Amino acid sequence: MPSEIYQGYEFYGSQYARFGTAVAAEIRRKVYGIDIGQQGWRSMDEQRQIVEILRKYSCRDVIDVACGSGGPSLAIAQAIGCNLTGVDVEQNAITAALGFAASLGKSDSTQFIVADCGKQLPFPDVSFDAVICIDAILHFAHRDDVMGDWHRLLRPNGILIFADAAVVTGAISKEEIIIRASQGSFVCVPVGYNEAALQSIGFKVIGSFDTTKIEAEIACNLVRVREKHRTALIREEGAEWFQSRQKFLSVTSELANNRKLSRLFYMASKL
Ligand SMILES: C[S@@+](CC[C@H](N)C(=O)[O-])C[C@H]1O[C@@H](n2cnc3c(N)ncnc32)[C@H](O)[C@@H]1O
Repeated sequence: MPSEIYQGYEFYGSQYARFGTAVAAEIRRKVYGIDIGQQGWRSMDEQRQIVEILRKYSCRDVIDVACGSGGPSLAIAQAIGCNLTGVDVEQNAITAALGFAASLGKSDSTQFIVADCGKQLPFPDVSFDAVICIDAILHFAHRDDVMGDWHRLLRPNGILIFADAAVVTGAISKEEIIIRASQGSFVCVPVGYNEAALQSIGFKVIGSFDTTKIEAEIACNLVRVREKHRTALIREEGAEWFQSRQKFLSVTSELANNRKLSRLFYMASKL
């Protein structure tokens, strides 16, 4: 793992290494209602919304930036029949994605690669109709450059969809931010920052939704369901990891519930 990317304790690599265990799948089923390999705050309503947007704009070539296990974007590709490219910095995530794609018979219309999405991506200009990035922009140290690269990748009128779970909307203590920011790089921005950046880069914001309440619910449900599976999880993760993950999820839920840190979902089109 490239060490300059990670400033907190290593999280995603180990998480994806355990992604396929029975208990991990059971927790996703209980928390999200259905297991499509979620790793974040994406509800099934949001998943359906993404499908609708991509369908509405007839997107054929879609890239999922920081795709994680690839499961959610593979479900989208199945729903709309698009070509899918997934990129994530974690080899374990991409290994899971390749496995999912093969099991769905989707290997021909999908590609998954390991790359640092905080840097320019290794694809030609204007090669995609849609860029999706769910719950990962907060990991990029230079988001304006990243958005600029998304703009480069998109065809004219191409669609950008992303969710940012770190928009500052209240007073946050040092203790809270240390825990919330503990999993990989973390950059939070004030309200309005994303909209201004998108506009200056050459995007038109066509919609945004506040999904903070749903993030709070998902984080809270993860704490509760993981607690029920405590023994099995401690066997898999170790006691120290289990506790720090529970703490992270509790603080995430509290920050969202108290509207200190908000999650916003954006849709924009390339001008
Ligand atoms: C909260 S998860 C979201 C995964 C996926 N988008 C989803 O909705 O299920 C954040 C993802 O960002 C990835 N990530 C973090 N930093 C990254 C980077 N610099 N380049 C690419 N991926 C990165 C992690 O490996 C992880 O898969």
